[in-house]
This record gives sequence, structure tokens and C-alpha cells, in this order.
Amino acid sequence: MATTYIYACKPHLLLLYILLLLQHFDVGKSQLEVNYYRTSCPRAEQIIKEQVIQLYNKHGNTAVSWLRNLFHDCMVNSCDASLLLDTAEEVLSEQASPRSFGMRNFKYVNTIKEAVEKECPITVSCADIIALSARDAIVQLGGPAIQIKTGRRDSKQSYAADVENFIPNHNDSMSLVLSRFQQIGVDVEGTVALLGAHSVGRVHCVNIVQRLYPQVDKTLDPSHAEYLKRRCPNPNPNPKDVQYSRNDLVTPMIVDNNYHKNILQHKGLLTVDEELATDPRTSPYVNNMAHDNDYFNQQFSRAILLLSENNPLTGDQGEIRKDCRYVNRNAN
Ligand code: HEM
Ligand SMILES: *[C@@H]1O[C@H](CO)[C@@H](O)[C@H](O)[C@H]1NC(C)=O
Repeated sequence: MATTYIYACKPHLLLLYILLLLQHFDVGKSQLEVNYYRTSCPRAEQIIKEQVIQLYNKHGNTAVSWLRNLFHDCMVNSCDASLLLDTAEEVLSEQASPRSFGMRNFKYVNTIKEAVEKECPITVSCADIIALSARDAIVQLGGPAIQIKTGRRDSKQSYAADVENFIPNHNDSMSLVLSRFQQIGVDVEGTVALLGAHSVGRVHCVNIVQRLYPQVDKTLDPSHAEYLKRRCPNPNPNPKDVQYSRNDLVTPMIVDNNYHKNILQHKGLLTVDEELATDPRTSPYVNNMAHDNDYFNQQFSRAILLLSENNPLTGDQGEIRKDCRYVNRNAN
């Protein structure tokens, strides 16, 4: 009836109707929306925020982990919480990939999920918990407030074997880094902003010593190299040793442009950090962000949104996990 009416009266309305229909079937980004749980679980976002704050007050570095989780989950195929699946039967967890080295606090994701489950069982996805906890963590870490959309669903598998094809290594070339981010729709400016996440957290000595021994990397600031040698005296550290350096010695728990200031002074820890400051494609943005924290915040917010909306599962794809570590036993 409706179609006949539209067709009969206004041909241009038919076009509009087709467009709306196409939009309806378009999967992915367009199906995420602000406050997706407003009717199914109105307090979901509030509960997650409360948990993030409580955990931050007990273990500040949980907030740092929520930020890194967003990168490692969304970059690999989709923001689908595949990162959170435990190794089970023949499936290896993404957490076991060498690229996940140093990731921590996974057990506290369960704390957040349990609080949400108590209020609304099997309603809020683990993928949205990753996205919302990252958003709230950024605020706890003094960064910008970002309006993150929701409606993601959880994968039924993990992709440990794919991780290295998506997440760059600490010493990869800037060309490779930029192409990885471009693949998920993050441009050069956005990539420079996202690396600003390295204004918080730490790097273990295994990821630093290549720049210290046998010779000090000439691109590294000499006094910083001395400092790093004191932090990492062993040229062949055991990966199990908890020897590390903080990324940012001045404001180690604040997401800000101090990362960009540091790398301009050649005090970045990773090879990719140093490359970002000197590659002609990225250095103009590094300069501008180092000199203008508002500009950094604006670009960081834009790029976090792009990252958080990478190829989500929506509609009836995937599932809503009850426990973020396991796929549901009985298909729901
Ligand atoms: C070229 C891209 C990137 C590379 C190669 C890279 C690599 C690394 C490495 C090697 C570490 C140290 C791990 C350790 O030794 O413990 C690290 C830490 C970290 N990364 Fe990245 N990263 C990249 C981009 C990002 C992005 C885009 C984000 C978030 C938006 C991010 C967030 C973090 C955080 C928060 C930490 C500190 C973790 C902690 O202290 O627990 N990284 N990254
Ligand atoms: C990068 O570092 C790893 C060790 O983390 C090493 O095995 C690899 O050879 C390095 N690659 C380059 C291009 O230097």
C-alpha cells in the first residue's frame, strides 16, 4: 500500500524510499547508534562508567589497559571482542599472540561484565564494553570525552593467527604502519593522533633493548638512552621479567600531547615512535599536535571514533556473550 501510494504520487519520493531501504540493509557502521541500550538496559553505560572509575581508583593502570584493548580488538578484523576469548579447545586466544605482549588486566573486564549482567543478563555485548570502557578510561586519564556509539555484537571466534597481519610490530616501517591504519579507514593525521595513546603506560625492556645494545640507536636522545640503559641493563632480557620503562616520564597517566613533545625530542621508546617524529608524511602533524593540545584532542577523538566503528558485527550477526571469555554454549 505505502509503496503504491508513494509511487503514484511523487516519483522522487520513490527514490528517497529506496535510499532509506538501502540504508536499512546497510550493515556495519550505520547500525551503531548513540545509547543503543536506552530501552533494553538504560543503566548500562552508567554501570560501566562506575566500574571503570572504581577499578581506576584501585588499579590506575586498568584505564591504560582499556585504551590498548580498543586498539587490539578493533584493529583485528572488527570491534567484536574477539580479543577477550580465552584459549579453548583448539582455538588459540588472541592474547597469546606475540603482538599482545604486555597486555594486562583482562580479569577486570569480567568485573565490569558481571556488574552489567546483574542488571541486564545477556543484553550488553563484550564488544560494547571494550568500546565504552575505553571511552571512560580516556576521561579518567585526563583525555577528551568522546561520544562512542553502541550496538556491536560479539564474535563467535578469535583470530590469533591474524593478529600479526593487522597490529604492527614495534619496529615496523612507517609505510607499513600507515597502510595498516589506512586499511581500517584511519588517515595519516588520525594515525599520528592515535599513537598519542603512548603518552600513558609502559614498554617492557624486550621491546627497547634493540635500540640500546650492542650500539645505541643514533636517533635516540643520548641522555634518554642513558636513562633507558639504567632501566634495561640486560641486553637479552627474559620476557618474563617485569623490567620496563614508562612511556612518558612527565605525565605518565595523562592522555595528552606530551607524547608528541617527547618524540620531537627523540625520547620515544619504540622505533615506530621515533619514525613518527621524522617521517615527512607524519612529522608535520606531530609538530602541530605537540604545540596544540586542543588540536591533538580533537584529532584523537575523531580517530578513536573511526577505530571504534571498524567493521562491527550488528543485527543478528555474532552473539551477546554472557561471559566475555567464552562463546555461549547454547546458541542464543
Ligand atoms: C604502530 C602502532 C602501534 C605499535 C607498534 C604499538 C606497540 C606497542 C608496544 C610494543 C607496547 C609495549 C608493550 C610492552 O612492552 O608491554 C605498547 C603499549 C601500549 N600501546 Fe601501543 N602500539 C601501537 C599503537 C597503539 C594505539 C593506536 C593505541 C591506542 C589507541 C595503543 C595503546 C597502547 C597503550 C595504552 C600501551 C601501554 C600498555 C600498558 O602499559 O599496559 N598503541 N604498544
Ligand atoms: C624487530 O624486532 C624483532 C624482535 O622484537 C626482531 O625479531 C626483528 O628482526 C626486528 N625487525 C626489524 C625489521 O628490525
